[in-house]
Amino acid sequence: MGAGDMMRWGLIIGPAALLLVGTGAWLTLQDAPQATMAPTMPVMPTAVDIAQGKALYAESCASCHGANLEGQPDWRTPGPDGRLPAPPHDETGHTWHHPDRVLFQYTKLGGREALALQGVEFDSGMPAFSDVLTDREIWNILAYIQSTWPERARAMQAERTAADLANGGS
Ligand code: HEC
Repeated sequence: MGAGDMMRWGLIIGPAALLLVGTGAWLTLQDAPQATMAPTMPVMPTAVDIAQGKALYAESCASCHGANLEGQPDWRTPGPDGRLPAPPHDETGHTWHHPDRVLFQYTKLGGREALALQGVEFDSGMPAFSDVLTDREIWNILAYIQSTWPERARAMQAERTAADLANGGS
């Protein structure tokens, strides 16, 4: 990461971290050691169906994350129940800051359980989709989301995923 990137991260994440417990949870999540993970590492299949992912996104995710992946208004500010609103999945959000494994677990298990896997206790408004979607369908949705990102975000997220795999894959 170059100095320019660090600076951007500082500008984006610094103030948010001061204000939001949620951001702290995300940073912890990313840095958490893999030893606490389940033995099988979720890996995106090489062949994905982006058209199906797009349709499933509209059906299952758009109600909260927005038809155009724009997220809910004021998504950085917790609501009255203390939970964070749904963040955008486009490049203005932080979905692309996380490796594939994290995105998959967050979708399949829901936010609370995905973070509990990392030893982080967090009251998340992200529901679990394990009863609604197959693993393959979840990967197709994530592949669709990724297909909308500009090259820079895609490249950075791919790097994060590779590093995560190198850490925790066996
Ligand atoms: C009922 C509303 C709701 C629905 C439907 C929903 N989400 Fe979420 N999602 C949330 C909320 C709220 C958060 C933020 C919660 C948190 O901070 O833990 C979130 C967070 C996430 C995150 C992690 C945050 C990030 O960095 O982007 C991912 C990944 C995610 N959702 C994927 C999905 C996918 C894929 C679907 C459709 C299969 C979906 N969500 C459907 C409410 C929803």
